[in-house]
Amino acid sequence: MDDLDKLRTDLLAQVDAAADLKALEDVRVGALGKKGAVSELMKGLGRMDPEARRTAGAAFNVLKTEIAGAIEARRKRLEGAALEARLAGERIDVTLPAREEQRGSLHPVSQTIDEVVAIFGEMGFTVAEGPDIESDWYNFTALNIPPEHPARQEQDTFYLPGETDGRPTVLRTHTSPVQIRTMLNAKPPIRVICPGRTYRCDYDATHSPMFHQVEGLVIDETTHMGHLKGCLIDFCRAYFGIDDLPVRFRPSYFPFTEPSAEVDIGCSRAGGELKIGHGGDWLEILGSGMVNPAVLENCGIDPTRYQGFAFGMGLERIAMLKYGIPDLRTFYESDLRWLRHYGFAALDLPSMVGGLSR
Ligand code: PHE
Repeated sequence: MDDLDKLRTDLLAQVDAAADLKALEDVRVGALGKKGAVSELMKGLGRMDPEARRTAGAAFNVLKTEIAGAIEARRKRLEGAALEARLAGERIDVTLPAREEQRGSLHPVSQTIDEVVAIFGEMGFTVAEGPDIESDWYNFTALNIPPEHPARQEQDTFYLPGETDGRPTVLRTHTSPVQIRTMLNAKPPIRVICPGRTYRCDYDATHSPMFHQVEGLVIDETTHMGHLKGCLIDFCRAYFGIDDLPVRFRPSYFPFTEPSAEVDIGCSRAGGELKIGHGGDWLEILGSGMVNPAVLENCGIDPTRYQGFAFGMGLERIAMLKYGIPDLRTFYESDLRWLRHYGFAALDLPSMVGGLSR
């Protein structure tokens, strides 16, 4: 029986020492498996006489049950510990503040295009687009810009190598060629605005070799200068959100319009600070005029039946004025800090503060 005690102590120590489920399984096979220590003892019972077998059998059974119980208890402990370890390893701290979401923002030029399109859209204009690379016929000739006009000089215009339709190739210097394309392709009545990139050989705080313009064109049988004035006064007031913004039309000259007028808005420059609105001063913001009959003829539109008006303005310029952006060059520097400061949330509706009165 001492042997049995020793075996018992030994097996219980092995169970206790099993560090993981695999080691515990080895202990179980070594004790209770087919060739395990306890099973071997059981096999010896057959050779005993009945009296001894009864006593020994009972003792062996007690031992077997005790070892099986100890193994089971140890298994539960090890399984619990394994689960704990996994939980600890996979723990997430739900109290950590969420990582900040990086959101893009709309460039002021995109925002301004959206605003201008929204305002003219409400007046019934649609958007027309054309290529940045043009032949000089679309950019100059069709617009009644004579060969000796300074805009055609190389210091003003980027000429590209090669010819387009047998004519010199240029980067368009305004979006007016889109008006020519529109008139060649559609029958009046026409009401379009043409936003897009334009290029001129110029670079300083208020000029960039690439910038954006939006031009507009209206052609109809009864359109007159009064329509031009009403349309542009409404636009200026809606865009700057000032219901009674003073707007002035000043005689000017463009080869493609006759008569032509530059449009100024009221402002104040008191104390060196520019403020749009009332104040006795004027600020030029766009060019306009009644479409020159020569331009209509170049586009196959009968000038004795149709007439209309056109206008054009720099998008960066009106964005700088509305949002107080001091330097044009910063528009193209792709400085994230600048974009975060002057950019717009993508879901902001175009600003229609003041709106259109009609
Ligand atoms: N195309 C002119 C420019 O680029 C703007 C303009 C358009 C003026 C239409 C009058 C009429 O300066």
